[in-house]
Amino acid sequence: MLLLDDEARIQSMQRDRWIDYARASAVLHLLGRLLATPERDRMPCLLLHGESNIGKTQIVRKFIRDHPPSFDDRRGVEKRQVISMQMPPVPDQHRFYSALLFEIGAPHNPKAGVSVLEGLTRALLRAMKPRMLVVDEVHHLLAGNYREQRASMNLLKYLANDLQMSVVLVGTADAVVALQTDPQMSSRFSPVELPRWSESEDFRRFLHAFEKLLPLRRPSSLAQRDLVRFVLATTGGLTGAVAQLLTLAAEIAIRDGSERIGLAHLEEVAQLAA
Ligand SMILES: Nc1ncnc2c1ncn2[C@@H]1O[C@H](COP(=O)(O)OP(=O)(O)OP(=O)(O)O)[C@@H](O)[C@H]1O
Ligand SMILES: [Mg+2]
Repeated sequence: MLLLDDEARIQSMQRDRWIDYARASAVLHLLGRLLATPERDRMPCLLLHGESNIGKTQIVRKFIRDHPPSFDDRRGVEKRQVISMQMPPVPDQHRFYSALLFEIGAPHNPKAGVSVLEGLTRALLRAMKPRMLVVDEVHHLLAGNYREQRASMNLLKYLANDLQMSVVLVGTADAVVALQTDPQMSSRFSPVELPRWSESEDFRRFLHAFEKLLPLRRPSSLAQRDLVRFVLATTGGLTGAVAQLLTLAAEIAIRDGSERIGLAHLEEVAQLAA
């Protein structure tokens, strides 16, 4: 990578990359434990919450990459342990079932009524026997009125109970608020937070790992105290903002030939954004 020309190196930074960090590993470990839970009446469920741009969806993606579908040769069907979907922006049951059917690759008539989609979804899921359903953007629940919220939550409870799979909800603090309106939901879903970064050994490790993936020819030593503090102050400790700041700073460092990120590069990006 280091041998490529400037444009190619800048281009290479546009790709999503996964960086392991302590909190993410801990969440992945929890998800792994849920997935390994044998079928039982009350399946454990999880609510992963954190601010927008903190890295929730990336964790879900990583988990799914680590647990890809397998093919059952004997029965000739695809076996998917984990199904992931997004809560539709307007949480009505019809849209929810449509989104879920789309996710499992089941063609259906979009004009069909809720009860038809519901029956189809249940029958397919019973046959597929997934062990986990991940629903991202679950704060969209709050976009519905009280009745719609109730209906969506009942649906999630039903899926967890009847199909005996773990349900993992992912969303912002609004998702926590939505769940708190239903004692059954809030007792059932253990909350796990993905917090903003603060000045810590974990954050310095994250920066170090990020630096190692940058196509710069000289070391930047991002874990230095003044750089760490500047990054935290500018990004509010949001993983996505940190990634963007460093990527833009690296781009400037390639273009000006310095090949390492210094405080001046970070300040330049911060000023552009301001
Ligand atoms: N483990 C990681 N390694 C590298 N970059 C990451 C990682 N996690 C998050 N990021 C960066 O943060 C950005 C935002 O992450 P993500 O989309 O997962 O946030 P989110 O919490 O799902 O936000 P929203 O609530 O708005 O959907 C990613 O596009 C990526 O640039
Ligand atoms: Mg997301």
